[in-house]
Amino acid sequence: MKRLAGKSALITGSARGIGRGFAEAYIREGATVAIADINLEAATTTAGELGDAAYAVQLDVSRQDSIDAAINTVVGQAGKLDILINNAALFDASETVDITRASYDRLYAVNVAGTLFTMQAAARQMIAQGHGGKIINMASQAGRRGESLVLVYCSTKAAVISMTQSAGLNLIKHGINVNAIAPGVVDGDHWVHVDSLFAKLEGKKPGEKRAEVA
Ligand SMILES: NC(=O)c1ccc[n+]([C@@H]2O[C@H](COP(=O)([O-])OP(=O)(O)OC[C@H]3O[C@@H](n4cnc5c(N)ncnc54)[C@H](O)[C@@H]3O)[C@@H](O)[C@H]2O)c1
Repeated sequence: MKRLAGKSALITGSARGIGRGFAEAYIREGATVAIADINLEAATTTAGELGDAAYAVQLDVSRQDSIDAAINTVVGQAGKLDILINNAALFDASETVDITRASYDRLYAVNVAGTLFTMQAAARQMIAQGHGGKIINMASQAGRRGESLVLVYCSTKAAVISMTQSAGLNLIKHGINVNAIAPGVVDGDHWVHVDSLFAKLEGKKPGEKRAEVA
């Protein structure tokens, strides 16, 4: 018996990277998975590659109307929502004195507000269904310590850890289990962007930063 047979999962930011990896593993274990991403074209391609158990959903986690619409789509497609993986996030890096309001607002809108309000919408749906559920928030080792050039991203991931603890304590009375995962370096497209930022900030060669922190 597959461990997730009959389960309906929504994975944010799953058109590529770690989210896609989750989707592949969940489908192997029998789940039906919504590949939810701001990039609908990429989500559609990914869902097509993953087969009949996957379907693409347009989702911008920084917008409440988009979150609500995505939850409705999942319930319409799969009949219910059992599992949310709150995986979508943005990264930025700069000297502390060069951090911009725009970068701060963008990362907090996606990594913090996006995680919180997608979790809230999923929890409301799970409570209405009455059978509990499972929510996994993607934190990071960056949320467990500061990093010289990564103040904003690190602080958003610290917020994810804190929100997970509070929501976990609050939602367990509904049978909803909330956990976070805090990975170190996971190779993928994300690191192309990170490497290019550190190339500018520290004169690192492509791949050098990744090798340094891995
Ligand atoms: N890769 C790593 O080394 C690493 C380490 C620790 C934690 N993480 C965390 O794991 C998660 C996934 O990382 P990744 O490396 O796969 O990232 P990635 O950049 O490869 O993928 C992120 C996905 O999120 C989507 N996305 C961006 N903004 C969105 C929005 N507003 N709404 C919906 N989707 C949106 C992107 O289109 C993309 O498909 C993130 O939360 C990241 O912070 C990554």
